[in-house]
Order: sequence, then structure tokens, then C-alpha cells
Amino acid sequence: MNVDALRERFSSLQNGFAFFDAPGGTQVPDEVGQAIANALREASGNLGAPYATGRAVEAILARAKADAGRFLGCTPDEISFGMNMTTLDFAISRAAGRDFQSGDEVLTTELDHDGGVAPWIELAADKGMTVRVAGITDELTVDYADLERQLSERTRVVAFAFASNATGSLADAKRICKLAREAGAISWIDAVHYAAHEPIDVVELGCDVLLCSPYKFCGPHLGIAYVRRELAETWRPYKARPSASTPVGRKFETGTLPYELLAGFSATIAYLDSIGGIGAIRDYERELGAHFIDSLPANVTLYGPPTMEGRVPTFLFNVEGVPAVDAAHRLAERGLGVWYADNWYCVSLGPHLPEQSLRAGIAHYNTLAEVDRLLVELAAL
Ligand SMILES: Cc1ncc(COP(=O)(O)O)c(C=O)c1O
Repeated sequence: MNVDALRERFSSLQNGFAFFDAPGGTQVPDEVGQAIANALREASGNLGAPYATGRAVEAILARAKADAGRFLGCTPDEISFGMNMTTLDFAISRAAGRDFQSGDEVLTTELDHDGGVAPWIELAADKGMTVRVAGITDELTVDYADLERQLSERTRVVAFAFASNATGSLADAKRICKLAREAGAISWIDAVHYAAHEPIDVVELGCDVLLCSPYKFCGPHLGIAYVRRELAETWRPYKARPSASTPVGRKFETGTLPYELLAGFSATIAYLDSIGGIGAIRDYERELGAHFIDSLPANVTLYGPPTMEGRVPTFLFNVEGVPAVDAAHRLAERGLGVWYADNWYCVSLGPHLPEQSLRAGIAHYNTLAEVDRLLVELAAL
């Protein structure tokens, strides 16, 4: 992967600021913005119009579904687009849960982002269900023994984050999906953080539902969901009449889709393909991540997996004697974009973390020189 060459494709990377904030949303190559602008210029219309703009919109939608299907390893018609992961998660969980009953349970984990938890809490509040939370280990990874203990014949859904947006910890998704299947429960993966760092194949994972958000991997602000066809076909969606519920992914798409953003999403996939795909990104990012961990100055305490084993290159830490808020502002003054926060939207993880912490996320457009700049400035703090 030629990082210098790919960085040329991002206007936002030309001014020397080093972005370590990819977990909150990545930078976007200019060609994605161009594709969005082109769609607004050339394809402003809606599905079904019997002239050029209508045809153009249909082509954008078909291409975006094909691209998302390829990205996740499913058929194009098993894809649903929505405003973002959270909105799609609320919508699809509502359809899935229509026949859930009082006493039914949903199992989540302490590492989960609330976008993957709140939909179940709200459904449970309406239905008299229980949302359980599997615990974590000292290294802030899923405690599988606890997860298995909490799984029962009452469990309807096992919902979990594939990678933590806070600590970078990975979950063994294949294992959890298998456990869910054996318990007769639906497996429901929040891959928002994971999708930016590792390739996904929903069939290989054996999952029922998986969601991600292109703005975490150089795309526009959108949500994408995969729902396994056999399940989706049995669920009755909340939808306006007479909008189409076929192919099956259309079931969870309400109203008019943002076609210009779908065109931008296809440009994102073309961009990723042009640099070797997520597989190439993965190898490069992991090298930078290993360098970051191996070179951490002594004044930095890392929370979560201590090596690149079982994690993506998203790092949660504090600098000794410097409140995270001050550290983040001082780093920003030195041209380094690092976030500070409390629970990082991971409500159950919060009590396991310090009051505030810093998060640096490495993306494929970061360079070794940028990582070294960050390490030097952390030591200087
Ligand atoms: C792991 C994880 N899940 C869910 C979300 C929510 O995604 P969205 O902003 O697309 O609703 C985020 C956003 O940061 C996330 O990091």
C-alpha cells in the first residue's frame, strides 16, 4: 500500500494536521465528495421516473447494494441502507422483536456501544423483557465464561460489538454466533468499529444481523445492515404503504434513500479496492499499531489488550499526571487530533474506565512519521 500516494487523494490531509480520530469518523477522499456532487447534479430524482434521472437513481441504488453485498459477503438484496447504524438498529430490532414476550431476554456485553444496546433496552421496557450484560476480563475483553453462563433458553438475541470503539478489543464473533445459534437465539453484530479495520464475511461468521457505518471507513454518513434472508422474510417491518418490501433488504428502508450518499458509498468502495481493500489496510495498520504499543513512553498507561493480539489499532490511555482534557487540547495545539471522553458511549464499560481517558485511533492514511510525532508529544506531556 502506497500511503504517500493515497494521501494525495485527501484534501484534508494536506495541511500537516495528524488525525488520530478515525474511531469517531474518518477523513474522506475527494473522489467520494465528487461522486456525491455528481449524483446531485446528474441524478436528482426518484425511483421509477420514466426518464434519465430516474434511471440514474436506480443505477446508483443497484450499484450501492452490490458494493455493500461484496463488502459484507452477502447478496445485494440482503442489504438495507439507513441514516446511520443507530437508526437502523432501532428499526430492525423493532421488526425482529414484534413477537418477543415478557420474560424473554437479550444478551449484550459490557464492551458494547450504546447504539447496539439502547434499542434492546427500549424494546425490553415496552415488552417486559430483560437485557443482560456479559462481563469483561481484566484486559477489557469479553468474558466468554460469563457470556455462556448468561445464555439460556430465554435468550432471543445475542447482541455484541465485534470491536470496541473505546479499547479496540476484538470479540470472537464466530464463537459468539455459534453459542447464540446453539441456544436458539439470533446473533446480532455491531461491526461499526470493526469494519474499518478487518474484512467481513457474514456467511463465514454465521451471523444473523450485522450493522456498520461507512463514515468510519472513508465514506459518507450512512448506516448499512445485513439481515439474513430467511429471518428478514419472516419479520414484518414498520413501513409506509405502498413502498416496496422486495427485494428483502428494502423491508427496513423507510422513505426515500439518500441516493447521493449511496453514490458516495460506491466511490468509497472503489477507493478501498484501488488501495488493495480492507485486507491490505489491515496489515499496514497493524504494523503502525504494533509500533505504537512497543514505543509507548513510560508516562502512558494503556487500557485494554496490551499487544496487537485480540485488538484493532484503537488505543485508550492516559498520560501520568495530565488530565485527559488538558492532554487532548495540548496535543491539538501541536497538530495532533486525539479525543478525550468518559465512557465513549459504552455505558456498561464506563465504570471499568478512569473518569476520563484519551483515545488514539490509527487509520490506514496515518503514517509512521505521524505515529512517531504522537509518541514524542505524549512523552513531552
Ligand atoms: C462500535 C460502535 N457502534 C455503534 C456506533 C453508532 O454508529 P452510528 O453513528 O452510525 O449510529 C458507533 C459510533 O461511533 C460505534 O463506534
